[in-house]
Amino acid sequence: MQHSSARNRSTMITTDIESFTRSFAEDVHRGLSAAPKHLSCIYFYDYQGSLLFERICRLPEYYLTEAEATILRTFSEEITSYLPPEAALVELGSGSCVKTEYLIEELLDQYGKVTYSPIDISRRMLKESAMSLLERYADLEIISVAAEYDEGIRRLEAHLDRPKLILWLGSSIGNFEFAEAAYFLKNIARLLAPEDLLLIGFDLVKDRGVLESAYNDSSGATARFNFNLLSRINRELSGEFDLDLFTHKAVYNEKRSRIEMHLVSRCEQDVYVGDPGSSYHFDENETIHTENSHKFTMEAIETLSRRAGMRMVKQWLDDKKYFCLTLFRPDRHHHETET
Ligand code: AVJ
Repeated sequence: MQHSSARNRSTMITTDIESFTRSFAEDVHRGLSAAPKHLSCIYFYDYQGSLLFERICRLPEYYLTEAEATILRTFSEEITSYLPPEAALVELGSGSCVKTEYLIEELLDQYGKVTYSPIDISRRMLKESAMSLLERYADLEIISVAAEYDEGIRRLEAHLDRPKLILWLGSSIGNFEFAEAAYFLKNIARLLAPEDLLLIGFDLVKDRGVLESAYNDSSGATARFNFNLLSRINRELSGEFDLDLFTHKAVYNEKRSRIEMHLVSRCEQDVYVGDPGSSYHFDENETIHTENSHKFTMEAIETLSRRAGMRMVKQWLDDKKYFCLTLFRPDRHHHETET
């Protein structure tokens, strides 16, 4: 069989992500005017931020990546045994391709060819990860979708005529509040056919020391990732943040089972941002809350599953029980009884 060129095996579906970009200025203004100040962690991931996050994933202290990769490597055959034949792989976010490769390789072995659809808001990340995957795997077809997650899944329906496994790896679900996560999954469940599956990575509750070093790494990569938010405001909104006047802080809030990340002002200062043309006052030690990263118990995953109208099919853990991959199926009974 003749293999087609990389370009022939790759399609990009784009949606209107302009409105998403436009809201950055408004969100920054709202977040910096609030008390306490906050910024949404979705704005970490411009191209620069995505590269910084990839660096975090290679840190020994950031155990999440290795734990999840080990589970995927060890159980790829068992995981894929739950899929209907010829299932396509869909991934929410495209930053975690390294881990996805274990599943891609397993399915290539089984099916001969595979369709992979990453959904991501960064067109450039999509393009670059597609190129490197296509060069490596001659029998891979890629349909990239530049969109937010649920819109992306909706748009894919017209292009995928087969069952799918949706991957949501890396414990990105931890950025949501519990109720938001349930709501988000419920919406996804509604978009799925009965034979579709969802595989989600959950970082588990563990020793505070392990958690806090993962978010206060010794190389300072996490701090740079956090600071990128301020750099982005400077670059894109003509902000005048002096990065030297802030510090990175990440602490585990045990009561709420989450790492909370902040940028702390070293002194009293006023910072001007060109778009929208406002100054923001900071007291000494005043913080901008930039991220929550929730940690799960097995019980919490089960509760979430029930609230989201999903049925848990199977769970896999690493030896240290640091991380849990859970396979879900939409629960049809839930759909019928609830409206
Ligand atoms: C991509 C959201 C899973 O919360 O661990 C890494 C992002 N923040 N280091 C996480 C992150 C600081 C990461 N998620």
